[in-house]
Amino acid sequence: MNIRIENLTKAYGDFKAVDNMNLMVEDGQLVGLLGPSGCGKSTTLFMLAGLTEATTGRIFFGDKEVTRVAPEDRGIGLVFQNYALYPHMTVEDNIMFPLINRKVRKDAARQQAYEMAKLVQIDTLLKRKPSELSGGQQQRVAIARALVKKPKVLLLDEPLSNLDAKLRVETREEIRRIQQEVGITTIFVTHDQEEAMSISDQIAVMKSGVVQQFDVPQSMYLNPCNRFVATFLGTPEINIIDVEVLGGTIKCGDVVLRTGVDVKNGTYKAGIRPESFTHREDDHKYKVNSVRMIGRDLLLHLDMAGRDVRAITHSGQSITTGDTVEFSVRESSILLFGSDDKVIGKF
Ligand SMILES: Nc1ncnc2c1ncn2[C@@H]1O[C@H](COP(=O)(O)OP(=O)(O)O)[C@@H](O)[C@H]1O
Ligand SMILES: [Mg+2]
Repeated sequence: MNIRIENLTKAYGDFKAVDNMNLMVEDGQLVGLLGPSGCGKSTTLFMLAGLTEATTGRIFFGDKEVTRVAPEDRGIGLVFQNYALYPHMTVEDNIMFPLINRKVRKDAARQQAYEMAKLVQIDTLLKRKPSELSGGQQQRVAIARALVKKPKVLLLDEPLSNLDAKLRVETREEIRRIQQEVGITTIFVTHDQEEAMSISDQIAVMKSGVVQQFDVPQSMYLNPCNRFVATFLGTPEINIIDVEVLGGTIKCGDVVLRTGVDVKNGTYKAGIRPESFTHREDDHKYKVNSVRMIGRDLLLHLDMAGRDVRAITHSGQSITTGDTVEFSVRESSILLFGSDDKVIGKF
């Protein structure tokens, strides 16, 4: 079932937690709702769930408008950060609970709970209490419970935030597998860009209640619409430097970064991703301020006309602090930002 959000706003007095949001989620897709804390992600999700009333705007599930429909009649499954399992009930009873609530016969409910438990791979834990499970297992129970009613839409609010780093990666892959297996339209709220990038079909990046960009992960990364999106995506963070354009040449201090560009003379902010630096002889010589191993790569801090920039290069080269290394900046990888922080071009 597709989801259509039209001009959706949630205001608290003069403050707009969500400001005129428009979004179309295709059937069966997983959309990551991404942004820093307080940007309006949960408020958006709660309006989709019907737990928060929209101030203005409309929400459609398929052809049906659900803006004023009660939460229990929307056909949604909800999963929160803090599992929200019933502590005194077994895993099985937790998963069955929404069905029992709906007066489904007990043996039928038990059978459906078992099928869900199998799907999320906790079918051997059905007789345990939540306290006897790891965080990752508890979150699987919460997902099984959300899916047991066969909802049309799955809404997840930072479901992995309580898990440690390794489990977080495992569980996000699990969520993606389950989502694809069931084929359920899903909105996944997170503040973690890597998480959103790794499992989403499309990502909506939000800031201060406003959707900045809605795009597939890779093209959002390569073609961010503004400085906020460019900076929010990617680790190590994109370098933002002051440059001058004069006669078609982009310079940072005395470093010539590009020639032959068609941009008005003036000073600009430029964005260069650390991985855009490539080793090339006879190019500009940068002094290496520091070297650090990150996974398989080296993270260098280079001196670019007195400014410190991050550059990633493959390890297996012997580069040490104080060296001078020749780098060029890859074609079409310098983002120039206008005075309104929007991207004006890639050079
Ligand atoms: N009931 C409320 N009354 C007033 N402000 C609220 C209320 N709920 C949320 N907010 C504000 O709305 C903004 C967005 O909140 P939220 O959607 O929870 O952000 P996120 O989930 O992205 O961290 C925040 O600034 C928050 O303080
Ligand atoms: Mg939130």
